[in-house]
Amino acid sequence: MGRKHIGVQDLTLEVEEGQIFGLVGPNGSGKTTTLKLLLGLVFPNKGGGQVLGFPLGHPAYKERIGFLPEGPYFYDHLNAPELLRFYGGLFGYGGASLEATIQRLLELVDMWDRRHIRIRNYSRGMLQRVGVAQALINDPDLIFLDEPTSGLDPIGAMNIREIIVRIREQGKTVFLCSHLLKEMEPLCDHIAILNRGLLVMAGSVDSLLAGPEGIYMLRAHSVSADVVKSLGSYATEVKAWDSEIEATFADQKLAAKAVQAVTDAGGVVRELTPFRRSLEEVFISAVGGEN
Ligand SMILES: Nc1ncnc2c1ncn2[C@@H]1O[C@H](COP(=O)(O)OP(=O)(O)O)[C@@H](O)[C@H]1O
Ligand SMILES: [Mg+2]
Repeated sequence: MGRKHIGVQDLTLEVEEGQIFGLVGPNGSGKTTTLKLLLGLVFPNKGGGQVLGFPLGHPAYKERIGFLPEGPYFYDHLNAPELLRFYGGLFGYGGASLEATIQRLLELVDMWDRRHIRIRNYSRGMLQRVGVAQALINDPDLIFLDEPTSGLDPIGAMNIREIIVRIREQGKTVFLCSHLLKEMEPLCDHIAILNRGLLVMAGSVDSLLAGPEGIYMLRAHSVSADVVKSLGSYATEVKAWDSEIEATFADQKLAAKAVQAVTDAGGVVRELTPFRRSLEEVFISAVGGEN
C-alpha cells in the first residue's frame, strides 16, 4: 500500500562535539526525518551513520542522548517536578539525587519558581522550557531539539535560545532542527541546509555567510544627494532610497573614506560592517527561489 516517499536522500552530515548544530530548511525538507534517523526511530534504506561513535539505532547511545519532539505532549495534570520524576524514573533514577537533578534542571530553564503550576495551565513557552528540562534528565552528551521555538512569542523564543546557549556552555552538543533561518543564524555554530530532502550546503555559519574577503558595507541616513553621487566613484555598489544608503566597498580604507564623507556632510552612519550575507539570502540563492 501507499507509494514510496523519499524523506531525505544523499545526505552527509558531520556534527562536532560541543557545538550548536542547526539543521535548517523549509517545512517538509526532511529535518524531522533526519532527526528520526539519528534517534534510531526510523532506518535508512541505504547508507548509515554513527551517533556518539555507535551505529544508527544502537541502544548504547540512546541513554546518552536527549530529545524534545516538535510540539511535545506531556501528561498535563502533572507539575514540572512530577513530570521530571516520571521521566527520571524511566531511566531508573530516584531519590535525593533525582530531586537535586530536577531542581538544577528547572533552575536552568527558569521554571523552578513556577514548579507548582500544572502543565495544563502552561504557556507554550513554559511547555517548551520544561520539555527541554525533560530532554536533559539523563545528563545527555547530545540533545536533539525539533523546532524548539516554533509557535513561541519573541520573548518565549529568546528564552529558549538562551537556554540552548547554556546547554552548550555545559559542554553538551545541541542538534537543532528549525525552519526559522533568521533565528538559527546567530544561534548556531554550524548549519546544514536541507531542501526537498537534499542537502543544499553545510558548514560553519561564518564560512556560509562570509562575503568576499575585505569587503565592507556601510549603512547611513540623512545622506545628501551630492555625497551619494561622490560615493558612486569609489564604492563597489551604492543603493540609495531618498537619503538612506547602503553601499559596499572593496576595502576598509575606501569604507573609512565614505564614513568621513557622509559625516562631514551631516549624514548619520548606522552601521559599518564586514560584508556578510544573511542565511536567508544564502538559502534563496542556493535553491533559486524554487520553493
Ligand atoms: N511517515 C511518513 N510517511 C510518508 N511521508 C512522510 C512521513 N513523514 C514525513 N514524510 C514526508 O517526508 C518529507 C520530509 O518530512 P519532514 O522530515 O517531516 O520535514 P521537516 O521536518 O523538514 O518539515 C515531507 O514531504 C513529509 O511529508
Ligand atoms: Mg519537522
